Amino acid sequence: MLRDEDRIFTNIYGLKDKSLKGAMARGHWDGTKELLEKGRDWIINEVKASGLRGRGGAGFPTGLKWSFMPKESDGRPHYLVVNADESEPGTCKDRDIMRHDPHTLIEGCVIASFAMGAHTAYIYVRGEFIREREALQAAIDECYEYGLLGRNNKLGYDIDIFVHHGAGAYICGEETALLESLEGKKGQPRLKPPFPANMGLYGCPTTVNNVESIAVTPTILRRGAGWYTSFGRPNNHGTKLYSISGHVNRPCTVEDAMSIPFHELIEKHCGGIRGGWDNLLAVIPGGSSVPCVPGAQMKDAIMDYDGLRELGSGLGTAAVIVMDKSTDIIKAIWRLSAFYKHESCGQCTPCREGTGWMMRVMERMVQGRAQKREIDMLFDVTKQVEGHTICALGDAAAWPIQGLIKHFRPEMEKRIDEYTRNATSHGAVLEA
Ligand code: NAI
Ligand code: SF4
Repeated sequence: MLRDEDRIFTNIYGLKDKSLKGAMARGHWDGTKELLEKGRDWIINEVKASGLRGRGGAGFPTGLKWSFMPKESDGRPHYLVVNADESEPGTCKDRDIMRHDPHTLIEGCVIASFAMGAHTAYIYVRGEFIREREALQAAIDECYEYGLLGRNNKLGYDIDIFVHHGAGAYICGEETALLESLEGKKGQPRLKPPFPANMGLYGCPTTVNNVESIAVTPTILRRGAGWYTSFGRPNNHGTKLYSISGHVNRPCTVEDAMSIPFHELIEKHCGGIRGGWDNLLAVIPGGSSVPCVPGAQMKDAIMDYDGLRELGSGLGTAAVIVMDKSTDIIKAIWRLSAFYKHESCGQCTPCREGTGWMMRVMERMVQGRAQKREIDMLFDVTKQVEGHTICALGDAAAWPIQGLIKHFRPEMEKRIDEYTRNATSHGAVLEA
């Protein structure tokens, strides 16, 4: 159970003073120099011990990722790059950090850069985030003015932070596409390995972290890894920002403990499901890239990496999209197919061709203008795309459809039956 005083983000709703003065009054930037004086190894080990896993969606252990950066310099500069290209449908947590609590991120950048020997950090902000970029830049300017950033600053570690504004492409949230874009090139994912820690920005050792992952680290270090692991369960520790949208009574972004039961999360923060729990149809629990879960299964779900994996889905970005029984679930998933088709960078064939193919078949599934055997064909195509592409966008396009077929096949068949009945009664000829 997370108490108010355990929250890391003390201004997520923007009700308090977000300036440096306000942030300091709320405990941020407290003892930052002393934390740096404890040394790189201490910081990395403490982040490892906290069990923090990447909050951008993949859940890769943050401390481990930091430890991949070379310890000694081979002459190449090291970079920290913050992925603030938050674009996963349903996800709006990093947006709130940048808008209302930007100093958590800036202090995190200083500490993470120090731990990895980087003197330059870039924050790559989603193109549509104008207010967020302005808030972030204003906070960075304050820090330069106050002597927390730049050369010979009060913290004793030279560090510059630059905000880079993206141009609105979802694929630039993929870390290597983001690096390409930052280098001024077309935002297309690179093959991995090499991972950015070996060959990142301008061919130099680079760590790319999500906004929330970086923003929580100063508080973890101040309060200790043991404090952080007191929330959640093994392998799923800490606090987490959940963005809850859709058919709940009060949609919101809220920080609570990892492993909170779904039922408690919705009752406590969202005033329940619209029309009551019996009206719950399905939930996409981790942003649009993870499969949906039927409402009956979600009622007892544990909101963490393992709990949602057991249900065949994932925590992803913890963007919880709630759908009640008024939802046309086939149409909802078709909408995601259209999104992925639009955002595919077109670099690899299974994704470029497959996303278009899947979207067109899904379009017919929405109308019921299909044959039942095409449901299996559609499933087969998702399997041809999944795991056969350069980046995770191909998987992300395939998984929602797989979830639909797995859980809502009877609805798809019913739709086809209805269309066939209507078409036959009107004398229409069905396509083969
Ligand atoms: P990934 O699992 O390939 O990588 C995660 C991180 O771990 C990366 O930084 C990668 O460099 C690092 N990593 C993984 N294996 C490594 C190794 N062997 N050595 C060194 N480093 C390693 O996942 P990816 O493609 O970065 O992210 C996919 C996730 O992103 C999806 O699950 C989705 O939830 C999420 N996503 C989030 C969005 C957002 O707006 N926040 C948008 C789209 C997707
Ligand atoms: Fe581009 Fe899609 Fe291939 Fe990713 S999977 S590199 S988005 S074509």
